[in-house]
Amino acid sequence: SKPRCILRLYHVLALVLCVSASDDFDWTKNEKSSFYYGTFPTGFSWGAGSSAYQTEGAWNIDGKGMSIWDAFARKKGKIFSNDTGDSSCEGYYKYKDDISLMKDMKLNHYRFSISWPRILPSGLKNEHINEKGIKYYDDLINMLLENKITPIVTLYHWDLPQLLQEKYGGWQNGSMVNHFNDFANLCFERFGNRVKYWITFNNPWSIAVEGYETGEHAPGLKLKGTGAYKAAHHIIKAHAKVWHTYDMQWRSKQKGLVGISLTADWGEPVDITNQRDIEAAERYIQFYMGWFATPIFNGDYPQVMKDYVGRKSGQQGLGASRLPVFSPQEKSYIKGTCDFLGLGHFTTRYVTMKNYPSGLGDSYFSDRDLAELVDPQWPDPGSEWLYSVPWGFRRLLNFVKTQYGNPMIYVTENGVSEKMQCTDLCDDWRMKYFKDYINEMLKALKDGVNVKGYTAWSLLDNFEWDEGFSERFGLYYVDFRSKNKPRYPKASVQFYKRIISSNGFPNQREVESWKRKAVETCSSSNQLLAADPLIGHMEMVTEIVVPTVCTLCILLSAVFLMFLLRGRL
Ligand code: NOJ
Repeated sequence: SKPRCILRLYHVLALVLCVSASDDFDWTKNEKSSFYYGTFPTGFSWGAGSSAYQTEGAWNIDGKGMSIWDAFARKKGKIFSNDTGDSSCEGYYKYKDDISLMKDMKLNHYRFSISWPRILPSGLKNEHINEKGIKYYDDLINMLLENKITPIVTLYHWDLPQLLQEKYGGWQNGSMVNHFNDFANLCFERFGNRVKYWITFNNPWSIAVEGYETGEHAPGLKLKGTGAYKAAHHIIKAHAKVWHTYDMQWRSKQKGLVGISLTADWGEPVDITNQRDIEAAERYIQFYMGWFATPIFNGDYPQVMKDYVGRKSGQQGLGASRLPVFSPQEKSYIKGTCDFLGLGHFTTRYVTMKNYPSGLGDSYFSDRDLAELVDPQWPDPGSEWLYSVPWGFRRLLNFVKTQYGNPMIYVTENGVSEKMQCTDLCDDWRMKYFKDYINEMLKALKDGVNVKGYTAWSLLDNFEWDEGFSERFGLYYVDFRSKNKPRYPKASVQFYKRIISSNGFPNQREVESWKRKAVETCSSSNQLLAADPLIGHMEMVTEIVVPTVCTLCILLSAVFLMFLLRGRL
């Protein structure tokens, strides 16, 4: 139960603190809490990110087909307050304005995704190519390049053409490998002369688990214990195929790179002296990032996944493991299909062992035999799952380095949200989050991790999937109630700008002045402009509080006067 877990956590936290000095890293110089002043290597790339369904809007414009998210968001009760991405930030129309925002921040790159059904409405290349959709991305890419912003393009950020879901069952079906390869090939053909960084899939863990296991995301299937593994299996094969297509047909001409973007939390053993906790934390990461990274870098699923899912499937009386198997040919075909690793990272968990007896409903989650805990002291300003734990980032980066042969890494997502209710443009918690996470990344670089770029998530507030518009990750605040979807800079824009222009953290005096300066700008007129609820609050103060206080004053004076008069009489 939760309270018991938390109590236990308090016990061991003391331990964690005592023994952390004996860890792998040089904590004597750069402890968890200490700040490291220094700068990034020249050429380090700074960017911000978005995705098609979350920002474009124009869901049925210029011949775009429907995606699984268009369909999912239409079902009542799936999304917070039944929001949809129908218009979202209207990015389809406002990309020029958005590029100005990027230019103003002096971003080196912009990470966005291509909506598959916008260019292939039925999902299939041999049916219909939507030239208007192609033109939109052409214009976007050209304008970025004109402004010296490198496009980093994701091919699949979750918006599968709905027809492929209906016809084939989406990622449950192996035929998707070829359909996705056709789509990717078309993108290489049309955009590859200008795009040099390709990401096949964004966060396949989420596609598999939330799309096919828990059903919180589109297509909303709840195929417990099997659906996620099957989807992941096909996604990994599709990724490998697309990498080979690029390698064989385009690389020599276009000279670009093809990677995948994996998202993972860091998992820290609750008690780092307890072997069972250490192994549980290892399983947590292997079932998260290792599930995808190990086949792609090392040629097969992590041994621990094969062991656990295999054993549990046996106990269930199944003839074969619920975790699919790669043939030897597939293994060697998949191994080494990553020119760079995209890394999305937001938060950390403490992990301890927990036995899930077989038969009580097997699932991806129970297969892992672990429990996740959080330290109640960790700040969690926005999304329920997102606690700010900067030191986990450095550990995750070092984990990637040692497990996968020190690959080239682009951080493709990192950031923090706020809840809809507090539309404060002076987002000091976000400035702190960026400052501390980016600093841990700098420490990781000093540890020898090969990080080449960093992408803040996200450029704009946008459609946060099942949470609708209620959680805002943007550097820019978007007023979704206004038809034109105006953007307003939060203080973190100023702050991030300073990090970029200094290429890191030059010295204490300067860095400490950044926050002050950023807050000066945000607390002026912008705040009032954007944050109607704040104006609303001020109106409330004048409309209710002022008259109430006045009435009370009058009453009190009357009572006081009465007492005075009585005394005299
Ligand atoms: C990862 C997803 O890729 C992105 O689309 C989402 O907005 C962020 N996580 C924040 O939850």
